[in-house]
Amino acid sequence: MTELADVDYFSNAEIAQDPYAYYEYLRSQGPVFQEPHHGVVAVTGYAEVMAAFKDVDSFSAVNAIGGPFPPLPFEPEGDDITAQIEAHRHEFPIFEHMVVMDPPSHEKARSLLSKLLTPRRLKENEDFMWRLVDTQLDEFIDNGHCEFLSEYARPFATLAITDLLGVPEEDRAEFRRALGAEKPQGNRVGALDGEAVGLNPLEYLDDRFSGYIADRRREPRDDVLGGMAAATYPDGSTPEILEVARPATFLFAAGQETVTKLLSAAVQTLGDQPELQDQLRANRDLIPAFMEEALRFQSPTKVDFRLARKTTTLGGVPIKAGTVLMLCLGAANRDPVKFDDPHVFRLDRKNVREHIAFGRGIHTCAGAPLARAEGVVTVHRLLDRLRDITISESRHGAPGQRRYAYEPTFLLRGLTELHVEFTAQR
Ligand code: HEM
Repeated sequence: MTELADVDYFSNAEIAQDPYAYYEYLRSQGPVFQEPHHGVVAVTGYAEVMAAFKDVDSFSAVNAIGGPFPPLPFEPEGDDITAQIEAHRHEFPIFEHMVVMDPPSHEKARSLLSKLLTPRRLKENEDFMWRLVDTQLDEFIDNGHCEFLSEYARPFATLAITDLLGVPEEDRAEFRRALGAEKPQGNRVGALDGEAVGLNPLEYLDDRFSGYIADRRREPRDDVLGGMAAATYPDGSTPEILEVARPATFLFAAGQETVTKLLSAAVQTLGDQPELQDQLRANRDLIPAFMEEALRFQSPTKVDFRLARKTTTLGGVPIKAGTVLMLCLGAANRDPVKFDDPHVFRLDRKNVREHIAFGRGIHTCAGAPLARAEGVVTVHRLLDRLRDITISESRHGAPGQRRYAYEPTFLLRGLTELHVEFTAQR
């Protein structure tokens, strides 16, 4: 292992396989520390990450997914670069999507989504998941083994969102194919070669959803997409078609890979600590706490970014306007000041729900209830239908000597493959 002080987090392949030692190195330098390679200020303290999330006046989300890539399209001038950010906003990756918007545009975009993600819709969607989990398991259960990401987690996550959005039944197989639900996304976001993501990787979905919305504006229908087509802004005005389509399409970008990573981390834990399978079988009420601990322990979104728009301080450290901040969620969720024994997976952790795997503040994950339901439903049915969920020794090595490969990105934390073996419960 290279000296941690010399590591460039944004290109180092070894650190991408196991970022936690590096996060501890950063923490040892202070909860707010400027790394020397890109001048990015890494925030590893739980309290400091929370403070940054909440201070929308000082910190813009414009670079939330790319961080230092691509470099700022302007030279920051002075102690307030708000006007510069607004003048160049359209040059930032996925600038059309709410996750990188600031108030007041962000509030407007998110208002459309809250009309879609109603408690009733989420409940209907969860009912669908209980059926989906069985259909998905039926595809491979008789084999006694599976590659969990491609055979279960990815198609499950994709199909759960197609249902949430009310994609017509006859189009769902095409979505599953078009979105590559059986294989890795080939996503450029967070790649270690410094190449930035394209401006709009979501065009296929924008087109499909714009089509659905336009159809329903011509001929209103009483379905989910019909509801989206009829949605208005809080001031009563009607959004452009694309303004409705984008919050919908963004759900796929936000909710496929993240959920795949969460589900596979959860099953990996069950395989590596089989006693947890017994505990959860004996008391199903523990499953939600198990999922929360999985989110804390292997936070799928490792880091999240902000751009200081005003000169300010964070955790007592001066931050100059134009500085890129890396909010290390994976590190904050293992901050010993906040969580006892942070590197241990514990089912009885009292404050586990205070983890920040879903972010905080105005950009808090809009899909958190959905992601949580996907996890709980999955674990429930896996325990119902599979006995002795075991990690494949031929693919990952014996206990204590496991070989796992993680996606080589600085942004997300997740396995590339997970081979498991089991006995079908009759
Ligand atoms: C385990 C799974 C997931 C994790 C770890 C996760 C994580 C996050 C995080 C950390 C943010 C905040 C980004 C920021 O502040 O810059 C976020 C935002 C968001 N997430 Fe999730 N997410 C997950 C699943 C989902 C799902 C299933 C959906 C929807 C189907 C979704 C939709 C969104 C949306 C729309 C935003 C943007 C919210 C805004 O900007 O106001 N996420 N997510």
